[in-house]
Amino acid sequence: MKVPDTSAARVLVVGDVMLDRYWFGDVSRISPEAPVPVAKIERTEERPGGAANVARNVAALGAKAALLSVVGADEPGQVLARLLRESDIDASLHEDAGLATTVKLRVVARQQQLLRIDFENAPDHEVLKAKLAEYAERLPQCDVVILSDYGKGGLAHIAEMIRLARAAGKPVLVDPKGEDYARYAGATVLTPNRSELRQVVGRWADDAELAAKAQKLRADLGLEALLVTRSEEGMTLFRERGAEHEPALAREVFDVSGAGDTVIATLAVMMAAGQDMAVAMRLANRAAGVVVAKLGTATCSLAELQAA
Ligand SMILES: Nc1ncnc2c1ncn2[C@@H]1O[C@H](COP(=O)(O)OP(=O)(O)OP(=O)(O)O)[C@@H](O)[C@H]1O
Ligand SMILES: [Mg+2]
Repeated sequence: MKVPDTSAARVLVVGDVMLDRYWFGDVSRISPEAPVPVAKIERTEERPGGAANVARNVAALGAKAALLSVVGADEPGQVLARLLRESDIDASLHEDAGLATTVKLRVVARQQQLLRIDFENAPDHEVLKAKLAEYAERLPQCDVVILSDYGKGGLAHIAEMIRLARAAGKPVLVDPKGEDYARYAGATVLTPNRSELRQVVGRWADDAELAAKAQKLRADLGLEALLVTRSEEGMTLFRERGAEHEPALAREVFDVSGAGDTVIATLAVMMAAGQDMAVAMRLANRAAGVVVAKLGTATCSLAELQAA
C-alpha cells in the first residue's frame, strides 16, 4: 500500500496534555529515615504526553499539527511548550494559574520502575470558556479534529466542540474515557480500546457479540464509525455497511504505551489527506505496529510507515 502525501493535511488536536518525566538512577542503599530504597538520579528525560503526544504523532507523519489545551502557570507547563515548539507543533496552551500541569513522574532504577508520582487537578471554567472561543476560531483552518480525552477535565465542553466541528463539515475523531459516552454523540469516529469499550457495553464472549454491541453503541450515539483497538488482536472498524478487521502487525513488542495515540493520529492524518476510513485504518494499524516495536519515542514517521 502506498502512503499518501500528507504535507497539506491539517489536524487540530484538543484535549488533556501532560508531561511524562523519567528520572533514571541507581539504588544501592536503604534510607535511614524509612525502610525504602534511596535512588540517586543520574539522568532525566521529558516527553509530551496525552493530547501532546497525539499532536507529536500528527507532526511526525508530515502533517500540520495544531494543539489546543490548558496547562498550569508552572515549570512543567513551560517545558511542555518548549518540547512542542521543538516538534514543530502550533500549540496554544492556555495558562490557568490555579492549575497544576499534569505530570507523571517515574523513578526508574535498573530498568525497574520504583515509583510513579502524579500531579494533576481540574482546570478552571473560565479558562475552558476562552479555549472554546479559540477552538471555534481555529476550526476553519483544519481538515480533521481530534478530541483526546484523558479524563483530566480539559474537555468539559466536548459536546459543543463536536457540534461546532460537524456544523463546519469537519470530521471529529474522539479517543474516549470513562463511562458516559452520551457526550460523544454525533462524533465521526470513536477509538476505544478493549477495556474502555467494556466499561460502556459490558463483556463480550466472541466476535459476533462484540460486533452486536459495537454496532448498537455506534447507532445509539449516531457515529459514522467505531474503531475498536484490540492490542495484540489488532483493530476492528465498525460502520453501517459492516465490520472490517486488521490483525496486529508487530512481532516484537517492546513498549505498547502510546500506541492508541499513534492510531488516532494516523487515522486523522490519512483522512485529512483524503483517504477512505478503511484505508486510513490499515495505515493506522501499520503505524501502531511500528511504535510498539520501538523503545522510547512513541511516534511513527512517514518513512517508517512506508517501509513497514
Ligand atoms: N501486544 C501487541 N502486539 C501487537 N500489536 C499491538 C500490541 N499492543 C498494541 N498493538 C497495536 O497498537 C494498536 C493500539 O493498541 P491498544 O488497543 O492497546 O490501544 P490503547 O490501549 O489505547 O493504547 P495506549 O493506551 O497504551 O496508548 C493495536 O490495535 C495494535 O495495532
Ligand atoms: Mg488509549
